Amino acid sequence: MALHAAIVGWGMSVPTRVVTNAELSTMVDTSDEWIQSRTGIKERRIISNGESTSTLATAASRAAMAMAGVQAADIDMVIVATFSPDRPMPATACRVQAALGITNAAAFDIAAACSGFVYGLTVATSLIQSGVAKRILFCAADVVSHYVNWNDRNTCVLFGDGAGAVVLEATDQPYGLLSSDMGAAGDREDLLMVEAGGTCLPLTAEVAASDRRFLSMNGREIFKLAVRGMEESSHAALNKANLTLADMAVVVPHQANQRIIEAIAERLGVPIQKFYMNLERYGNTSAATIPMALTEAVAEGVIHNDTYILLTAFGGGLTWASAVVRWGIPSTRLPITQ
Ligand code: ACO
Repeated sequence: MALHAAIVGWGMSVPTRVVTNAELSTMVDTSDEWIQSRTGIKERRIISNGESTSTLATAASRAAMAMAGVQAADIDMVIVATFSPDRPMPATACRVQAALGITNAAAFDIAAACSGFVYGLTVATSLIQSGVAKRILFCAADVVSHYVNWNDRNTCVLFGDGAGAVVLEATDQPYGLLSSDMGAAGDREDLLMVEAGGTCLPLTAEVAASDRRFLSMNGREIFKLAVRGMEESSHAALNKANLTLADMAVVVPHQANQRIIEAIAERLGVPIQKFYMNLERYGNTSAATIPMALTEAVAEGVIHNDTYILLTAFGGGLTWASAVVRWGIPSTRLPITQ
C-alpha cells in the first residue's frame, strides 16, 4: 500500500476575458477604490461563449499532466471539485475525462464550494493510500459568474471564474498531503447559497425571473465565520501533522478577500508576507483559488521542493478545511507511458 500521494504536476487556466473594477462600476454603483480597499481585488476573469467549467478544467488538467510528464493512459481516476458543473448530469469529471482521452478511468465530482480543493485533495490522497488508485488527476474548477447577480454590488465584485489542477501519484516517500482537517455547518446554508435550480426549488419561469437563482450571501457574518473557521482549522491540521506554523514556508489560503486573509494572519500570529495572494488578478474563483495560487506561487519561486505548506479554506455549506502539504517530487516515480 502506498503511504503517500505526491503532487507531481500542477497547472491552471482562466478565461481570456478580463473584467476590471472600472468595468464593474459601469454596471453597478461601485468604484475601483471601494472594491480594492474592501477586498484587494483589481480584476477577475469571466467566461465567454464556448467556455464552461469543463473547458477551464480540461485546460488546467492538460497543463498539470504536461508538468507531471504523464499521458492520458497513465491516469486511473479523474476527480473534479466544483459547485458549478457543466450539467446536473453527467459529472463534470466525466466530460474532462472524455476531452482528455482518458479512457478506463473512474470519474466523479466533489461539491464542497470554496473548500472543494482541500476536501478533494483529502479524498484523492485517501484513495491512493488505500490502493484504489495509483495516479489521480484532480481538478478544482468553478464558473461562479454563472450564479452571480450582476445587479447586486454586494456580491458581483467578489467573484471570478477559473480552474487549477494537480496530478497525484502514489509514492513511499513522504510528499503530498500530510494531514487535513475538514468540517461543515449545514445548518448555516442561509449565509451563502444558490437557493434555486436544484430539486428543492426548481427553475420554473417565475423562479428563474427572481433573484433566488443567484448566489446570495451575508457578507459580514461570512467574514467573521471565515476568519474563525480558517484559524481553528489551521491549528487542527498543524496539530495532526505534529508541525507548527514556524515549520510552514508558505500559507496558501482560499483567495476570497485580502482583509479576511490579513485577519487570519493576525490571529495566527504569522507575518502577512508568509501568505501567498493572487486574488487581485482573479477574485474569488471558489474551489479553484488554492490550486491556482499554488501554480503561480511555484512559478514565482515562492514554493520550493521539500518545504511545508499550509492550505486553508472556507465557503458555502458552510464548509471549511485545512491541510499540511509537503511539496516536492519523489526521487523515484511510477512507470510512465512512453
Ligand atoms: N461598492 C460600493 N459600496 C458597496 C459595495 C460595492 N461593491 N458593496 C456593498 N457596498 C456598501 C453596502 O451597501 C453598505 O452600504 P450602507 O452602509 O449604505 O448599507 C456599505 O458598502 C458597507 O457594507 P458592509 O457590508 O459593511 O461592507 P464590508 O466592509 O463588510 O465589506 C464585504 C463587504 C466585502 C462583502 C465583506 O463583508 C466581505 O468580504 N465578506 C466576506 C464575503 C466573502 O468573501 N464571500 C465569498 C464567499 S465565502 C468565502 O469564500 C470565504
